[in-house]
Amino acid sequence: MQKQPIIQIKNLKKQIGKTTIIHGISLDLYPGEVFGFLGPNGAGKTTTIRMMVGLMNITEGEVLINGYSVEKNFEKAIAYVGGIIENPEMYKYLTGYDNLIHYSRMIPKIKIERIEEIVKLVGLEKRIHEKVKTYSLGMRQRLGLAQALLHSPSVLILDEPTNGLDPAGIREIRTYIRKLAVEENITVFVSSHLLSEMQLMCDRIGIIHHGKLISVETVKNMLEDNQHLSVNFTVSPLKEALSYVKKTNPKIKAEIIDHRLIIYTSEDQITTFAKLFVNNGFSLTGIHGEQKSLEEKFIQITGGDLHV
Ligand SMILES: Nc1ncnc2c1ncn2[C@@H]1O[C@H](COP(=O)(O)OP(=O)(O)OP(=O)(O)O)[C@@H](O)[C@H]1O
Ligand SMILES: [Mg+2]
Repeated sequence: MQKQPIIQIKNLKKQIGKTTIIHGISLDLYPGEVFGFLGPNGAGKTTTIRMMVGLMNITEGEVLINGYSVEKNFEKAIAYVGGIIENPEMYKYLTGYDNLIHYSRMIPKIKIERIEEIVKLVGLEKRIHEKVKTYSLGMRQRLGLAQALLHSPSVLILDEPTNGLDPAGIREIRTYIRKLAVEENITVFVSSHLLSEMQLMCDRIGIIHHGKLISVETVKNMLEDNQHLSVNFTVSPLKEALSYVKKTNPKIKAEIIDHRLIIYTSEDQITTFAKLFVNNGFSLTGIHGEQKSLEEKFIQITGGDLHV
């Protein structure tokens, strides 16, 4: 990613009263990427997002959008942004289309074709002339997306857009978000507390915990990680093998699960352990390495309270 960042977050801090809620977050976002902002309830996602879009004062640091400071040059900065921070405002007794028309009056020089194009993009063409009150939550979210996209923003900022949706609704939103990034080169900054969802939708994931950005990684790297494996050894005698591993490698985590010895280690250590067993009189009949799931890793990072 050698491109110029579209959003730069520099040492962003938020203090309310004597409490520091956001402790100096720094992050660059690039054109066309979907960035997942993952954190448990109360981690500081909404607070960060509200500062990014100028809905809340920044205590320290700054947010630049396409080089413009959200604080000092709000109008210019925000012109590049489409966002759904809370539930999008809709007129339930109007059709989806009329809602978009109404909203588009605030956008200078917008063409009717743009509205049609966006309706297609979010897959609402069949139902757009029906009243919003007949829409499912997922359809309302998509109409919200359409509304946020009308002025052709470069960046879309979404705070938990799949909250309350069923699995099918979540899949729909995910599909449209990926489509926007790929087809319209829009940068999407999306928050969630669900790792599984982020993994499917994002190019990179940043984990926020207690107001600190504690890790930023590409999903690809996370999936290819061969440093955190749980390796199953079918070895006997089992208990003796466990004691032997613990004695010779006191720092390694190992345990017995389902009559197998599980050693938490990296790919390059598998042979070492296999040799250790074979050379010391154990019978080894199987080895099976599994990547530690991202879920486990995140729980480890966040101290186990990712789902609180
Ligand atoms: N106006 C406020 N005054 C005091 N504390 C606040 C205020 N707004 C947020 N907080 C606190 O800041 C922390 C972060 O809140 P925030 O809403 O940003 O978390 P979040 O990651 O969006 O959580 P959720 O997943 O529940 O939406 C929480 O501990 C919250 O109680
Ligand atoms: Mg929130």
